[in-house]
Amino acid sequence: MKITFTKPNLSEKKLTVLGIFEGNLWGPLSTELDKKLNGALKNFVKNNDFKGKVGETLHFTFNHNKNFDHFLFIGMGNVLDCNILTCEKIGGTILKYLSHIKSETANVLVDPVNKVNVKPESMAAHIAYGSLLRSYHFDKYRKATRERLPFNVKAINVMLHNTVQASKLFSPLEKIALSVFFTRDLATEPSNVIYPKTFADEARKLTKLGVKVQVLGEKEMSKLGMNALLAVGQGSNRESQLVVFEWKGAPSQKQPVALVGKGVTFDSGGISIKPAANMEDMKWDMAGAATVLGTIRALAERKAKVNVVGIAGLVENMPSGTAQRPGDVVTSMSGQTIEVINTDAEGRLVLADALWYCQKQFNPQCIIDLATLTGAIIISLGHHYGGLFSNDDQLAADLIKAGKKENEPLWHMPLADYYDKIINCDIADMRNSSGREGGSITAAQFLQRFIKKGTAWAHLDIAGVAWTTKDLDTVPKGATGFGVRLLNRFIHDQYEIHG
Ligand code: BES
Ligand code: MN
Ligand code: ZN
Repeated sequence: MKITFTKPNLSEKKLTVLGIFEGNLWGPLSTELDKKLNGALKNFVKNNDFKGKVGETLHFTFNHNKNFDHFLFIGMGNVLDCNILTCEKIGGTILKYLSHIKSETANVLVDPVNKVNVKPESMAAHIAYGSLLRSYHFDKYRKATRERLPFNVKAINVMLHNTVQASKLFSPLEKIALSVFFTRDLATEPSNVIYPKTFADEARKLTKLGVKVQVLGEKEMSKLGMNALLAVGQGSNRESQLVVFEWKGAPSQKQPVALVGKGVTFDSGGISIKPAANMEDMKWDMAGAATVLGTIRALAERKAKVNVVGIAGLVENMPSGTAQRPGDVVTSMSGQTIEVINTDAEGRLVLADALWYCQKQFNPQCIIDLATLTGAIIISLGHHYGGLFSNDDQLAADLIKAGKKENEPLWHMPLADYYDKIINCDIADMRNSSGREGGSITAAQFLQRFIKKGTAWAHLDIAGVAWTTKDLDTVPKGATGFGVRLLNRFIHDQYEIHG
């Protein structure tokens, strides 16, 4: 979808979106327009009991004919509550409504009233951003049934005085949105299309942006002793891969920030096979790795002055004659041994080696992993908050702050010796599964055993938030891309050199 910014022009015969704040607060341009139309707009709003609550909509057409002037009123909420996130929500709602009435395009008028804390340019940029994020669609496999697809809006034009400043603010947001789309695409693609090697091919495309991309195959990983990761992939015909990204936007002596993603391109459960119901969801068990890709892409597109490494551990978890068995013991790259009680607790095996490799190779200043790791986190938090586990309270606080700013909220979950003991094992150093109690916590404790003392680390369990079955304000149902905005913000606020 195309986004443009132009100066206000209210004589155009095109759908015009007018934002109205609660308490019937109109901006000067819409008031002027209403006067020209002899009060028809204000009357209509009054007669239809339009309150101006955030996201409320009301459609007005002369003669009920779309070829005449028509307007969409959108509620902007309370003036005092207006912030960039409400603007994004409003942008998303506008997009949804345009698609609903099959309008290819619209002019959105930014017409601020007194006491609003958001500058008009910022309002314009974030309304555009919200619309763009909501406009995402994935219809490449709908061929014969295209006519039944939801309507795709082609363009949105935002009208305000300072178009130059609005475009300037929107430019990085657009780059982030396209990176979110990249992540959503990867998670949505089926597992016969995106598997470890084809995922690595997608990753290589980032080299055009100046990212160094290196791919390790099974031979190289075997030499490094990554037996935990390799054990997960050994039942599959698809070769496991480890993708390593390096984005160097800062002086080279600066230690990098590290992002590590779980990339299980399909999780059947392996020999501990999952039930058939909803197993198709396990095509997006690589959402953590896809989020790492999307974030690196956003940073590279923005030419962020920061050093970041990204690692994607890519495997397919399948049952077969070569698959690992419950009871197998594997020696991880760290030297610690693991009894595989349940082959469906595979994500932690992949991350154990990816995390170890990352620390050994790059000595990062902090390390953040993302994984659709446990069903238990969905039981704890549902589909709104991502689960956050960390050995460093400052890092945790910084991530939570970034999540709040981007509407990708995180909830701080506990780590404690009590939970760590639960994964002790009689025959090996630890076991990969140990009952249902505190399932997302014991999974995090497992990962922590692969973090060196003194390394600041956070683990984001995104199993509940990587996919949505309902439309959200700025996310149509499907893959969300959760984490790209959050990590981009976190790195921007905490690590980037500005100016
Ligand atoms: N990929 C799943 C977790 C998951 C579940 C992600 C639902 C997204 C939606 C993970 O590999 C898994 O199977 N976890 C098991 C762990 C158990 C066997 C200890 C789980 O959560 O049941
Ligand atoms: Mn699993
Ligand atoms: Zn999994």
